[in-house]
Amino acid sequence: MDSIIERRSIRKYKAQEISKEQITKLIEAAIKAPSAKNRQPWKYLIYSDKAKKQLLDVMEHGLDEESEAHALLPKSAGGLADAYNTLRIMREAPVLIIVINTNGKSPFEDIEPDERIAEICDTLSLGASIENMLLKATEIGLGTLWIANTCFAYNDLIEYIGEEGQLVGAVSVGYADEKPCERPRHDISDVMVWR
Ligand SMILES: Cc1cc2nc3c(=O)[nH]c(=O)nc-3n(C[C@H](O)[C@H](O)[C@H](O)COP(=O)(O)O)c2cc1C
Repeated sequence: MDSIIERRSIRKYKAQEISKEQITKLIEAAIKAPSAKNRQPWKYLIYSDKAKKQLLDVMEHGLDEESEAHALLPKSAGGLADAYNTLRIMREAPVLIIVINTNGKSPFEDIEPDERIAEICDTLSLGASIENMLLKATEIGLGTLWIANTCFAYNDLIEYIGEEGQLVGAVSVGYADEKPCERPRHDISDVMVWR
């Protein structure tokens, strides 16, 4: 509960490095998550240093393409500025964990309703595992940002990453260089319904 209350999205990071042991603790927490039919549809790719820079150059190229052509997500063009801001944060954080749904397909492919149900279940399982990771990071004094803005550069990123499955998003990890206040939440009385 302490980690749940203390966790914040961190968008400013110190240059201080993170050890392999620290990242391993996060992934150990992630893989303890429940998953639909115990499918454990996850894979975590850890990028740092030069590998992270190269990956983020690919993302920047994808964002530039999307800014020019709006080919992937034309209705979400308003989110592109935020995606560039997220890219800046990803560059600053010393570690980036890319999250793959190993059973997933490209979001730009048509799928049948039963495949969609399975994908929803796998996405929920991945969300649970990501939250475990964020809470463990809070417990051991690290800051994180859960990132979905990779979607604007989806095709470039998944091709460069070279893994089967669906790119679900990413998590930036590092030592926080800010102490954000809690962001507002809906009042419990508005979201909890007794029947
Ligand atoms: C699925 C998901 C995707 C997110 N994607 C981004 C992102 O791409 N960039 C970003 O700055 N924040 C992103 N966030 C962070 C949210 O903006 C943040 O969780 C929310 O505003 C609440 O703030 P808090 O995490 O500090 O409580 C994402 C969060 C979730 C759960």
